[in-house]
Amino acid sequence: MSSYDVIIIGAGPGGYVAAIRCAQLGLKTACVEGRETLGGTCLNTGCIPSKALLHASHMLHEAEHNFAEMGLKGKSPSVDWPQMQKYKQSTIDTNTKGIEFLFKKNKVDWIKGWASIPAAGKVKVGDEVHEAKNIIIASGSEPSPLKGVEIDEKVVVTSTGALELGKVPKKMVVIGAGVIGLELGSVYARLGSEVTVVEFLDHITPGMDAEVSKQFQRMLKKQGLNFIMGAAVQGTEATKSKAKVTYKLRKDDSEHVIDADTVLLATGRRPFKDGLGLEVLDIQMTDRGQIQVNDHWETSVKGIYAIGDVIEGPMLAHKAEDEGMAAAEQIAGQHGHVNYSVIPGVIYTHPEVANVGETEETLKAAGRAYKVGKFSFMGNARAKANFSGDGFVKLLADKETDRILGCHIIGPAAGDLIHEVCVAMEFGASAQDLAMTCHAHPTYSEAVREAALACGDGAIHM
Ligand code: FAD
Ligand code: NAI
Repeated sequence: MSSYDVIIIGAGPGGYVAAIRCAQLGLKTACVEGRETLGGTCLNTGCIPSKALLHASHMLHEAEHNFAEMGLKGKSPSVDWPQMQKYKQSTIDTNTKGIEFLFKKNKVDWIKGWASIPAAGKVKVGDEVHEAKNIIIASGSEPSPLKGVEIDEKVVVTSTGALELGKVPKKMVVIGAGVIGLELGSVYARLGSEVTVVEFLDHITPGMDAEVSKQFQRMLKKQGLNFIMGAAVQGTEATKSKAKVTYKLRKDDSEHVIDADTVLLATGRRPFKDGLGLEVLDIQMTDRGQIQVNDHWETSVKGIYAIGDVIEGPMLAHKAEDEGMAAAEQIAGQHGHVNYSVIPGVIYTHPEVANVGETEETLKAAGRAYKVGKFSFMGNARAKANFSGDGFVKLLADKETDRILGCHIIGPAAGDLIHEVCVAMEFGASAQDLAMTCHAHPTYSEAVREAALACGDGAIHM
């Protein structure tokens, strides 16, 4: 048995960041992880492997579609799937090993195994019970099941199986036009699969600014993705190598069946709490099954905290990381804080889609007067040169004060561009503040400045 100031359960982006910050603040810290490697869903089966496959398949797309026009002649590359899988795995390995290095450097003990909490102040791993003045639960999330859809991770898969298919399927059906469905659907469409996305709602990516969502769907269609909208999946039927997906169209209740070699279920994720023994502790939950916490990330049991996907809020790695740092600071007697109104979201398709803050829809619903500054990447020299003129930046600012309220970008490097708006929002900046900041030419970021100019007297290049 060992005694610690803090034991963290789970070494995903929430848990490992919390562990490092606790150690930096002088607390004796251990992190329990049940997987063979550190880094959680994000590094092992989420953000990192999916981005590796997005990168590789995007390179293929560039070679097939844009190389010849730039004067790069020759045979297009063909797909060596086992090698692409190796590349993906090496990306995972270097990142997970990196966290092991950081644990050693910061003197965080990695307790290997699955943890439960027999009582406040105690963490059990295997036969050993460790003592902890504070416990942080960072146990993450798992794919939500869907009635009638039986997952075998071979033919009918979640994102985990979709990242390691035996081969590139001829026909793939994706259930759910959310982030996972569109990122992984894009990967396989670029690699040559016929991809059909079946979505319950009439629009893709719920919660996204409606104008961006429409443009995004148009662009994905142009890239070859098929969409069946307003369709409720009733179930799947799988053999060893094929599956049938039955869905009902909501408009007329008609039933249809579609064939696939692979079906990807991507209809959301839910908090993972199995085996922690929370029932015994009487920890309060939200009605959506998340662990309930207060402003300091403390649960209803004193000394037990929770962060990341297992609590409320967007299921994003950077949100989990920020909560990890803030909870550690709270435990150390500091004033850890997360500004939930400035958490960017990015979809790493091509083009990327990024957002932060309010949408036009949320502002209208709140009855808030706002103005829109919009700039198309067609007016951005760098984007045009790089075949990336499709898309736009849309900045939303308060009508009276000009304070930036939100930003929505669909276009090249959107996931990087969004951060200058995040910083501006953290400082309470106005659109004019962004517009008056000199932006280097020729960069994509000039489009952000032009959108800010469009909130005032007008953009220059549009
Ligand atoms: P997790 O990363 O899920 O880590 C929890 C860890 O806790 C796991 O390793 C688990 O094994 C361990 N654990 C659980 N219970 C116990 C126990 N009892 N004992 C010991 N260990 C335990 N987010 C982004 O921001 N950007 C992206 O590009 C992105 N891409 C994604 C792609 C996919 C395919 C998926 C599935 C998710 C993606 N996400 C992305 C979401 C992101 O992965 C999660 O939001 C993030 O990993 C949450 O971090 P976490 O620390 O809360 O939990
Ligand atoms: P999601 O919540 O993004 O999308 C689920 C989609 O499925 C929605 O469009 C929903 O309307 C649809 N749906 C629900 N039930 C359905 C049904 N019965 N039939 C058809 N469609 C149905 O969930 P997703 O894509 O599974 O992602 C889970 C989480 O992972 C997200 O919350 C996201 O935050 C995180 N993630 C983040 C990434 C990023 O930041 N780039 C990448 C991948 C995942």
